[in-house]
Amino acid sequence: MKIFATYNIKGGVGKTATAVNLSYLAAADGYRVLLWDLDPQAAASYLFRIKPRVKGGGKALIKGRLPVDDAIKGTDFDGLDLLPADFTYRNLDLMLDSAKQPARRLAGLLAPLKNEYDLVFLDCPPSISLLSESVLHAADLLLVPLIPTTLSVRTLDQLTDFVGGFNGHKPSILAFFSMIDRRKRLHTQIAAELPAERSDFAAAVIPAVSVIEQMSVHRAPVTAFAPRTQAARQYRELWHEARERAGLAMA
Ligand SMILES: Nc1ncnc2c1ncn2[C@@H]1O[C@H](COP(=O)(O)OP(=O)(O)OP(=O)(O)O)[C@@H](O)[C@H]1O
Ligand SMILES: [Mg+2]
Repeated sequence: MKIFATYNIKGGVGKTATAVNLSYLAAADGYRVLLWDLDPQAAASYLFRIKPRVKGGGKALIKGRLPVDDAIKGTDFDGLDLLPADFTYRNLDLMLDSAKQPARRLAGLLAPLKNEYDLVFLDCPPSISLLSESVLHAADLLLVPLIPTTLSVRTLDQLTDFVGGFNGHKPSILAFFSMIDRRKRLHTQIAAELPAERSDFAAAVIPAVSVIEQMSVHRAPVTAFAPRTQAARQYRELWHEARERAGLAMA
């Protein structure tokens, strides 16, 4: 079982859109996939038409009173399950803080699922917190969406340094440009240059297009309801690069 996390300290950069599309594509390729919506805003749960509620709240999961397995819901798509968000996740940091070895807690909670799933996606809220630290420790691969600016590349370098300081298990990092506006010269310039120069950048580039926003109207991944669009093609390319980067065996 591999664990992928969509992560960026910044909000609104395409983390959830990526987790939703890549988990759908992975399941369509035959992998057994679980998406854990860790964000109290519950966008991923909403997009997969799942009520954002966990019995006993996040605390029951973190304390181990509710086995993770019991909170999992099926989606409309074969091979894709979802562990919903819950509004109590806004306090996940406090709950983790009172757990033993908080940075290892998520990895520990997911360990019993290793024979049930080939791939787990963690969709993180935008922050740098105890929760994100626990996510970074659990993950095999971090998918980091970036808006093409010099500043966002600095943020990526900070993340790389932070993860580089971990003892033992370290996730690989695959950054990619998200919400590229072809009319902005700086966007096209940075998006063309960096993936050619740096091995931690994916070649896939996600355009800023309204069909991706329409996911919240269809309540489905764009790769499912509009598979022939440029956006869907780029998500497929990103999925293939992520699968390769993580060394995921064929389904
Ligand atoms: N490539 C894109 N083009 C246009 N709109 C996009 C694109 N990616 C995401 N969006 C839209 O932008 C908004 C934010 O995207 P998303 O929820 O994926 O970001 P996020 O990083 O998960 O945000 P948060 O930090 O709040 O969790 C959503 O309304 C989404 O539909
Ligand atoms: Mg999100």
